[in-house]
Amino acid sequence: MTRISTILLSLSLLVGAASCQPEPAPAPEAETPTDPHSFARPDEALTKHLELDLEVDFEAQQLRGSATWTIEQKPGASQILFDLLELQIDSILLTTTDGAMQATTFRISEPEPYLGSALEVDLVPNTGSVAIFYRTSPDGAAALDWLEPGQTAGKQQPFLFTQGQAILTRSWIPCQDSPGIRITYDATVTVPADLLAVMSATNPQQKNDTGVYRFRMEQPIPPYLLALAVGNLAFAPIGERTGVYAEPSVVEDAAYEFDDMGKMLQAAEDLYGPYQWGRYDVIVLPPSFPFGGMENPRLTFATPTIIAGDRSLTTLIAHELAHSWSGNLVTNATWNDFWLNEGFTVYFERRIMEKLYGRDYADMLAIIGYHDLVDDVNDLGPDSPDTQLYLDLAGRDPDDGMTDVAYEKGAFFLQLLEEKAGREAFDAFLKKYFTEHRFETMTTKEFVVYLRENLLEPNQIEVDIDEWIYGPGIPSNMPAVNSTRFDRAEAAAESVAEGGAATAIDTTGWSAHEWLHFVRHLPRDLSLEKARSVDQAFDLTHTGNSEVKAAWLELSIRNGYSRQIEPALQEFLVRVGRRKFLSPLYRALVETDQRELGRRIYELARPNYHSVSRKSIEAILKV
Ligand code: BES
Ligand code: ZN
Repeated sequence: MTRISTILLSLSLLVGAASCQPEPAPAPEAETPTDPHSFARPDEALTKHLELDLEVDFEAQQLRGSATWTIEQKPGASQILFDLLELQIDSILLTTTDGAMQATTFRISEPEPYLGSALEVDLVPNTGSVAIFYRTSPDGAAALDWLEPGQTAGKQQPFLFTQGQAILTRSWIPCQDSPGIRITYDATVTVPADLLAVMSATNPQQKNDTGVYRFRMEQPIPPYLLALAVGNLAFAPIGERTGVYAEPSVVEDAAYEFDDMGKMLQAAEDLYGPYQWGRYDVIVLPPSFPFGGMENPRLTFATPTIIAGDRSLTTLIAHELAHSWSGNLVTNATWNDFWLNEGFTVYFERRIMEKLYGRDYADMLAIIGYHDLVDDVNDLGPDSPDTQLYLDLAGRDPDDGMTDVAYEKGAFFLQLLEEKAGREAFDAFLKKYFTEHRFETMTTKEFVVYLRENLLEPNQIEVDIDEWIYGPGIPSNMPAVNSTRFDRAEAAAESVAEGGAATAIDTTGWSAHEWLHFVRHLPRDLSLEKARSVDQAFDLTHTGNSEVKAAWLELSIRNGYSRQIEPALQEFLVRVGRRKFLSPLYRALVETDQRELGRRIYELARPNYHSVSRKSIEAILKV
């Protein structure tokens, strides 16, 4: 087999050619826009189906095997381009449509930060498939989190999980890593015989003797939704179509916590049409998982920090489930259109929660979301282009776009449209949108055209789309949300601020949301004495609710109550790897001149963080 691996010098040619294309016309059949975060040139040769064959080597912390891509070669195309990040390519074989096989030559471009390299593979006429034999980087692939037994609940076996979104799949599979490209896949994964492997595909429910597992994803998905987890996993069904995977010592608690999953699925279908993916399961990962949840199709990946014991944090399941429509069925064409995934999903998530638990529950969620949005807009600056729904992330890590703007401003935009059109018309519109565009990608421009034609014009609705989508900051006609349940929590926070006794507060009937709102409404300059009295009354430092705990710890750092909470803070930061909790806590340490404490804790915690969290925390701590 030939092996040529030279450095591609004229990378600018690669991207240059694609970026000179004319602006995509604002019509639904417009061609897919150039994705600034992928080297692929789908207009020349396009991946359609993946046959993945991987061995999981925990000792070497490496995946080895092959990715065989069925491709669509456009007339005259002599190459296909893949994305890769630090993969070692051993060899590449082509098979022509009439079955002839041959080795081929390829080049890997100089790696660029976070984007990685272009893998340029030479094709022959009528190439049907491209088999890439490869291994992941021995220094650790960005998508992969290899956990030692000690980092799991059971402490006996290792664990592995992947995180593909936004552009990390290329670090474990050479692929055309753009959300505008859809593929089906089959996989064979070989793991140590005492472990179970699961993927974003049809899944086994128990271990076998061989350690070889086969998977199939028949619906076309974007590559960021390719996912794998391997560990000592057990499965518990929750109704007919739903269930939960977790380590044996966690699975029962998880099944209790997510008891309403089947109802959520039903509520979602009642709103926006049939679930298109067969089963819907959740896997609860070890606490180093860097996100709350990840909507891998058929199998949501979730943090264990939502297992609060009282089902108070299951909105996250509704969120990831909602992505089965917004995101997985209709996918943002590029990461600039991220709000089409997340804004729709937050809106949808709240509709599911409203159906199950009532309007006052959903309103609390909306208010919490509104405060998150205001915080992010203040941090980014109200004139920052990053506070627009439509983003310009070219030349930057798409991770930069992952702010509450996409989530909350996006959700409030849909809320506004709902209010203008009326719920019935708006629901019919959304259902039609998901149905007509299922298994397709969507640009912001295309959506705007669709919105005008199918909702605004027929109903004679006026709305300032440009202000919302292309304008910065918080729009002037933001929908208002009220919550009497939160009024009580706010009054309680005010009474503490004014010197009232914490023990005098009536907290009967408070959910975790009221607690969170209460903590967030305590003044940032709460005196040490008042902080102590709140903690004595409610022991928030040791609450089992991760959201409340994170908010309380942050407040404590900021108001000088940090010495008292330091052991709990350290325990939390070392155990939990969820970035949404980590970043505000480390930032609070830095901003209160406690960077050294932050660095000391990070030193201990680092082995337990996924690369995604490490990157963010190292930027905050400047290490
Ligand atoms: N798809 C996201 C997670 C994500 C976004 C990963 C961008 C990588 C890049 C997921 O659906 C999500 O939004 N998770 C949230 C929870 C949700 C309830 C807001 C999270 O992880 O906090
Ligand atoms: Zn989401």
